[in-house]
Amino acid sequence: MQGGELSMENQRPHVVTCGLPYANGPAHIGHLRTYIPADIYVRTLRKLGENPVFICGSDTHGTPIVVNAEQLGITPKELVTRYHRYFDETFRKLGVIFDNYGSTDSEFNHRRTQQIVKELIDRGYVYPKSIELAYCPVCEMFLPDRYVDGKCPYCGSPARGDECDQGCGRHLEPGEILDPVCRVCGTRAESRIQEHYFFRLSAFKDFLLEYLARLEGTSNARNYALGWVKGELKDWCITRNLDWGVKFPGRDDLVVYVWVDAPIGYISSTEQWAEKTGESWERYWKGDARITHFIGSDIIYHHCIFWPAMLKGAGYTLPTAVVASGMVKIDDKTFSKSRGYVVWVDEYLENGFHPDLLRYYLASYTSHTKELNFSWKIFQEKCNNELVAILGNLAYRTLLFAFRNFGEVPEGEIDEGVIEKIGETIGLLDRSIREYEPKRMVDSVMALANFGNGYFQSHKPWELIKEDKGACGVVIRNALQIVKALAVLLEPVMPSKMEELWHYLGMETDIHSVGVKEALVPIEAGVKLKKPRILFEKIEDDAIEKMENLLRGRIEGGEEDIEKEDIEKMPELVSFDEFMQLDIRIGRVVEAEAIKGSRKLLRLLVDIGEEEPRQIVAGIAGIYKPEELLNREIVVLANLKPAKIFGYDSMGMLLAAGEGVLLVPDREVNPGERVR
Ligand code: 2FM
Ligand code: ZN
Repeated sequence: MQGGELSMENQRPHVVTCGLPYANGPAHIGHLRTYIPADIYVRTLRKLGENPVFICGSDTHGTPIVVNAEQLGITPKELVTRYHRYFDETFRKLGVIFDNYGSTDSEFNHRRTQQIVKELIDRGYVYPKSIELAYCPVCEMFLPDRYVDGKCPYCGSPARGDECDQGCGRHLEPGEILDPVCRVCGTRAESRIQEHYFFRLSAFKDFLLEYLARLEGTSNARNYALGWVKGELKDWCITRNLDWGVKFPGRDDLVVYVWVDAPIGYISSTEQWAEKTGESWERYWKGDARITHFIGSDIIYHHCIFWPAMLKGAGYTLPTAVVASGMVKIDDKTFSKSRGYVVWVDEYLENGFHPDLLRYYLASYTSHTKELNFSWKIFQEKCNNELVAILGNLAYRTLLFAFRNFGEVPEGEIDEGVIEKIGETIGLLDRSIREYEPKRMVDSVMALANFGNGYFQSHKPWELIKEDKGACGVVIRNALQIVKALAVLLEPVMPSKMEELWHYLGMETDIHSVGVKEALVPIEAGVKLKKPRILFEKIEDDAIEKMENLLRGRIEGGEEDIEKEDIEKMPELVSFDEFMQLDIRIGRVVEAEAIKGSRKLLRLLVDIGEEEPRQIVAGIAGIYKPEELLNREIVVLANLKPAKIFGYDSMGMLLAAGEGVLLVPDREVNPGERVR
C-alpha cells in the first residue's frame, strides 16, 4: 500500500469504531451521519498509509427490543437476527465496509462482558444495593427502562424510564422517574424494593477530569462530557430485571444494563475479527493503541464518561478520540420517525439513487459536528451543480476528448503547476481528515476539480487539436492527470463511482488500495483508454418530486411500517405523551336538567375541582333522567375545545360507552382527580 509519510504515532495499532445500531428497525439517514464519515475517515487514513481496523456490530439488547419483539409476536432473538443481517447488508450496499460486523448477542460478547463485569466486581467497582423500583401490579413485573413512562425528576418533562428524551436529555437511573406508569398496561406503578448492582462511577471523577482534558476527537464531545463530570457523578445501576441480555455473573434473574454490554461489543467484535484474521485483539484493547469512536452526539455521555470509567476500572486501553456528529434535520425540521421526518435508506436505494451521491451529500454538506439538513431539493442541487457540472463534466469531457482524438494517454510533460496543485490538495486532505472534517476534505478536492475545468477551458484543446496535435496531447495528458488525482482522492467519499472512473482511465490497479501518492505519479503515456460513459447523470425534477411526495405523505400520516423501532408511535396507537395531553378528570354532577326541544340532550353542571362547575351538554337523555345523575361521580374530558350545542356552551365531554352508558369511578374520589 502506498501512502504518505508515516510517523511513529501513525504506526500504532488503531481501531476505529462506529456506534452500534440497535437491531430494531430499518436504517435511515440519521444513522448514516455517523457511519459514512467514519467510513470516509478509515478509507482516507488507509490512503495515507495507515492501517486502522474498522469495527461495528449490532446492538441487540435492551428493553425497546424486547417490547418491539413482543408487539410483533416474535422472540427478541428472531428480531435482532433479522435486523443484524439487514444492517450488515445495507452497510455493504452503501460502501461502508467494516472489518467485522459483530453482535452484542454473540458468544464473544457474552463472554467478554461477563469477564469485564467480574473484573469490576473483584476490583471493588461494582457493589449491591437495595433500591426502590417501579413495579406493575397488573403485569406482575418490575418495569425496567422503556417499560415505564413518567416525569423527569430534573426538568419535569415527560420522560421514559432511562432517559429524559424530550427535556434535559439526562440519563435516568432506575427508580428515579416521577409518576411512573406501566407502558404495557397503563397502570400506575408501585414501588418495591429489590437488590441491584451499581457501578461506582463516583470513584472515577478525578480520573475523568484528567482523562477528558486530553481526550482527542471533536470538541463537542469533550466539552459536553466535562460539563457533566464537573457536576455530580452518581453511581450507575448496571442490572435490570429482564431475561434478554447478558446475565449478571452469579444472578440468573438479572441481566446487565444494555449500556454495559453495548460498548463492550467494540472489543468483542475486534476479538471476532482477530480470530478470523489471526491477529491479536489485545494489541488494540490492552496495549498501546489508538482507539477512535465515531458516535452521534446523543450518546456522548455514554462514550465519554461511563465507558472510559469502565475500561479504566477493568484494566483496558482507553479511547483516544471520540468524534461526535451533529444531528440530522429533514427539510429543516427536527428528525423524527414518528412524525415522518425521516428518509429511509431502502426508499432511497429502491428509487434508483446511487449510494455515492448520498455519501457525497453527507460528507460535504456541513462541518461534522454541526446539524446537517437533508432536503431532496438540496440533494438535487448538490448533485447537479457539483457532481454533474464540476466533477462529472471535467471527467467526461477530458476522457471523451482523449478517447476520440488519441485513444490512449498522449505523450507530454506534466506541468509543475498541476503537480503542485495536486500536492497542495493532498496536504489539505490529510489535515482535514485528521481534524475529522470530511467537508473540508471534499471542498479541497472539489477545488482541484474546479482548477481542472479552468485548465481545460483556458487551454482550448478543441482548437489546439486542429493546429498542433502534439501540444494538444500535452494539455490532455495534464487534464487526465488531474482526473486521475481526483479519482484517487475522492475514492474514500465515492468508492464505487471512482472505481468506475479509474476503469475509464485505463488503470489496471485496485483504486481502493492505492495510496494518495498515486495521485502524483504521472499518468502513463500510451495506456489505452476505455470508452467513457457519463459518470453523474443530471437528476430531473420529477425524480425529486416523487421523493418529496413520499416524504410529504409520511409527514401527513399516510404510510407506516409495522417494523419501525418506535412501535408505540404507529398511527393507530397514541404515545404516552399524546395520551397525557388529555385532561381527563373525575367530576361530580351538581345540577342536571333536560334541554327543552331536545330528546337526547341534558345540560349538566359538573364540579371538576375548579372554582366554578363546568357546563357540559351531553347526549344521554335517552338513558339517564336528570335527577338520576345528581351527585353522581362521572369521568370528564376537561380540555376538549368548547362547543355550542343547542344554544348552550358545552365546556367538556362526559366519557361514556356504547349508546351513552356513563363511566364512573369504582370508589369515591375527589372531584378534579386526574384519570390516567
Ligand atoms: O444509541 C444507539 O443507537 C446505541 N445502539 C449505540 C450503542 S454504541 C455502543 F456503545 F455500542
Ligand atoms: Zn429532564
